[in-house]
Amino acid sequence: MSQSIPADAGPLLSVRDITKTYGARVGCEDVSFDVWPGEVVAIVGESGSGKTTLLNCISTRLAPTSGTISYAMRDGTMRDLASLGEAERRLLMRTDWGFVHQHASDGLRMRVSAGANVGERLMAVGDRNYGEIRATATDWLGRVEIAADRIDDQPVAFSGGMRQRLQIARNLVTRPRLVFMDEPTGGLDVSVQARLLDLIRTLVSEMGLSVVIVTHDLAVARLLSQRMIVMKAGRIIEHGLTDRVLDDPHHAYTQLLVASIPES
Ligand SMILES: Nc1ncnc2c1ncn2[C@@H]1O[C@H](COP(=O)(O)OP(=O)(O)OP(=O)(O)O)[C@@H](O)[C@H]1O
Ligand SMILES: [Mg+2]
Repeated sequence: MSQSIPADAGPLLSVRDITKTYGARVGCEDVSFDVWPGEVVAIVGESGSGKTTLLNCISTRLAPTSGTISYAMRDGTMRDLASLGEAERRLLMRTDWGFVHQHASDGLRMRVSAGANVGERLMAVGDRNYGEIRATATDWLGRVEIAADRIDDQPVAFSGGMRQRLQIARNLVTRPRLVFMDEPTGGLDVSVQARLLDLIRTLVSEMGLSVVIVTHDLAVARLLSQRMIVMKAGRIIEHGLTDRVLDDPHHAYTQLLVASIPES
């Protein structure tokens, strides 16, 4: 999927030498990369390669052991995320950023209505008018293909695919600039996955979002991302344009991963 990126703008997110250890165990090690405005970057690699650790570090959900992460704030200043106060960090997370969890129950409030799950994010950014919040929530449910008559249902009453679509609506309603996703289609059956991926792809391109998506599925990376990072044992072993990495993998491990994709 190709998309033009403004040449004059700097990176939105800049990751430098990030290492996270859990005691003696390495989560990720010496990871550096940039995310440019409007770009989708996929992080791929086998189970245990450090994808989630890295995603949690760069989204400030987990403190790295060493390294720096800088982010271009809306006012144009580049800020070291470790220097943000807790209030600033929380504001960033619920306005400018989104985080789509693998398990929808980690990203939704399962016992409040679908409408409230979406409306809550709007209230967090200061919207107070009940009628407008409900109208916006209804509109967003429609955009993620959830029927308007389900607005008062709780996510516990939704299917896996619907929950994931609701999680996406909840994250995108505040029009974030950067969205982190950890295996957003994991655990769903194949036809549901395909429809969800298509929806994500449409919304990302309509909204010009920057996305960092973790997946172990190279087909997901191919469909959604412009650039790809391949991890193994906590380190980046290959990094490049998605089409290049998949069509002409340089590293033996990437060659193995690519060779193991079933023909479709
Ligand atoms: N809380 C933790 N405590 C100790 N070790 C951890 C913790 N979380 C992750 N690890 C270790 O860090 C390494 C990277 O794990 P991580 O969860 O980031 O991998 P992953 O690529 O996301 O794997 P998966 O595809 O299975 O989700 C693994 O060796 C894992 O055992
Ligand atoms: Mg993981």
